[in-house]
Amino acid sequence: MRVLLGVTGGIAAYKVAIVVRRLREDGHAVRVIPTLASLNFVGRATWEALSGQPATSDTFANVPQVEHVRLGQSADVVLVAPATADFLATMVHGEAKDLLSNALLVTRAPVVVAPAMHTEMWEHPATQANVATLRERGVHIIEPASGRLTGADSGPGRLPEPDDLVEALYAVASGTPVADDPTGFGQDLAGLSVLISAGGTREPLDAVRFLGNRSSGHQGFALAEAARERGAKVTVVAANVVLPLGEGIGRIDVETSAEMADAVATASRDADVVIMAAAVADFRPANVSAHKIKKPASGEMSLTLVATPDILAGLVAGRRAGQIVVGFAAETGDADGTVAEHGAAKARRKGADLLVVNQVGEGLGFGDVPNTVTVLDHEGVPIASASGTKLAVAHAIVDTIAHLRAH
Ligand code: CTP
Repeated sequence: MRVLLGVTGGIAAYKVAIVVRRLREDGHAVRVIPTLASLNFVGRATWEALSGQPATSDTFANVPQVEHVRLGQSADVVLVAPATADFLATMVHGEAKDLLSNALLVTRAPVVVAPAMHTEMWEHPATQANVATLRERGVHIIEPASGRLTGADSGPGRLPEPDDLVEALYAVASGTPVADDPTGFGQDLAGLSVLISAGGTREPLDAVRFLGNRSSGHQGFALAEAARERGAKVTVVAANVVLPLGEGIGRIDVETSAEMADAVATASRDADVVIMAAAVADFRPANVSAHKIKKPASGEMSLTLVATPDILAGLVAGRRAGQIVVGFAAETGDADGTVAEHGAAKARRKGADLLVVNQVGEGLGFGDVPNTVTVLDHEGVPIASASGTKLAVAHAIVDTIAHLRAH
């Protein structure tokens, strides 16, 4: 299909570059119209290179082609992302001050608008009134996500992730209304209490050292965001995670596996769903030195490690009726089996309702990078797989949980 993509002057414009790439990969023609203000954030060359088409902003740029009329007429669907407070006002007033606002007056195609701005601007009565007017006129508004904004502040106003924008656009283009639901998943976790562990524990060795792992907490935090977007009351037990959490998500910070075990034991009592996404150390040093351990003269050193309690096993053993327990398995594959084989064996051994298996290692799995997972049931049978941003993967995992609750 032919997508007309309006980009207005907000810093979130950078995320929309990914939207163009994804739409092109999916075989759609994309024509980008950046406003002049938006070019302060992402330059014209980026849009032209990604879309393979000119990215003009000016009504008079290509007069012989009558572009200010043709672009709106030829679009199958229009997306404005990010839409500033100023541009919402422009749309409400029907102004035709540049190429994008002209095209929006001409088009008869469905229009999807993704506002992004600071919370105060979003909540201002003028902006809310403009949004209400646009909705009355049949414009599909994608509610902004909640979370970290440009400065140190956080709250509603963030542009949803590129994959969510694309899914919302496809839903509108295919005639499925998305209404106010940015993810298209609805509020299928409404009323549920979800506990998520995230990050990686650190086991102290002496006054300055610890044994740790490379977990960043990105996937666990994306799960928290996804569950909250779908209506759940979410609490995160975060082990050494430097990332911010979205508005309204409870947070308990811990360092060691013992602290995590305590926090999870308490917080899981009222939880309907517990997701153990954290990388919990399996072993800790048997003795913790109060002082910094000195280099031994021999040039060799041995550590005695003792097993930590398996938190997931404790949750499975103590599971209340109706409570869903989800484990994670980070696998690399080895001489004894593939990632899938180790995952299936672990699913049967752990006894959790669901086990999310992901391959980790060099450049895979850790940090703010795309992820690929397979979700197994308690017998080790694959029931879903997902690939993409950690938020997209999170929604796919939440889907399997919602499905399990409903059956
Ligand atoms: N886990 C836990 N408590 C531990 C260790 C792990 O709750 N002490 C949880 C993790 O949060 C994850 C799952 O168990 O949900 C899988 O952890 P993993 O270390 O991959 O599995 P193990 O059973 O330790 O198997 P192995 O190390 O042999 O792969």
